[in-house]
Amino acid sequence: MIDGEPSRTAWSAALHRAAHQIVDGGAVFPDAVAVPITCWSPERVADDARLHPQRRGMRAFIACRHRYARDVLARSAADAQVVVLGAGLDTIAYQPLGLLGGTVFEVDHPATQSWKLERLVEAGISPTVPVRYVAVDFETDDLTAALEAAGFDRERPAAVVWLGVTVYLTADAIEETVARVAGLSSARTDLVLDYSEHDPGTGAGARRRTARANRVASIGEPWLTHFTPSELASLFERHGFDEVEDLGFAGWGTRYLGLPPETPDRPSGHLVHAVRHGSGALY
Ligand SMILES: C[S@@+](CC[C@H](N)C(=O)[O-])C[C@H]1O[C@@H](n2cnc3c(N)ncnc32)[C@H](O)[C@@H]1O
Repeated sequence: MIDGEPSRTAWSAALHRAAHQIVDGGAVFPDAVAVPITCWSPERVADDARLHPQRRGMRAFIACRHRYARDVLARSAADAQVVVLGAGLDTIAYQPLGLLGGTVFEVDHPATQSWKLERLVEAGISPTVPVRYVAVDFETDDLTAALEAAGFDRERPAAVVWLGVTVYLTADAIEETVARVAGLSSARTDLVLDYSEHDPGTGAGARRRTARANRVASIGEPWLTHFTPSELASLFERHGFDEVEDLGFAGWGTRYLGLPPETPDRPSGHLVHAVRHGSGALY
């Protein structure tokens, strides 16, 4: 990220969610706040999506990843504290019907978080559940201490959502954050995240990914870390997670986009749900 400036990719992700409401009718991920939080009219969102048809694939992935998180949250403990890491313009805490019971902790880089607070005021959007805003830089700050200072109760369950962030972090910051999440609560912890899979290919898909990588690097948010599925599995094993579901393209495409079951897998963004059963002890 550029020093002192909010994340530009947080804005792009929000625009994708808004376009999904207008262009795709919110078929995968209906979100009543996705358009209002951009402060753009539905017409402007639609025009922008029409001008950039090449964004369709990313829009579908982003809709699927938020739907996946919502599905996990719906199954998590009723009193789970929800922690949104790298929240950007995430709207979990602002849904009119209040999807959740517990407090939401929105954790983000300080510059992005101040910008979001301004967007919320401009859009006239208020939280529908209690929200704590926690400013953290994953590369340098102590996530556990920051959450505790904001009132996170380490003896109650946690549901942690970490979408669109790992690819922008160093491997060390990812390792440290997973360790912090694993030790956050003595009760059950659910963690949903996405990651970018190593793509050694040279075909059209790889060329599209390179073009996207160059674009985000040019706005100060280079892709830093990719995983293979087995590297990802080792990461969660190292930190004592008990169950890990890892969905590649075929997995989330068949589940949410209606792709046929025989759809072949290909390098893509992956969706992961990792569970750590409560041990009763903190570490
Ligand atoms: C692509 S956006 C995703 C935002 C949101 N999760 C979503 O899905 O719309 C990346 C987010 O990661 C945050 N981020 C990137 N590097 C960070 C860091 N070192 N510490 C804290 N947050 C960071 C940015 O501020 C931004 O909110």
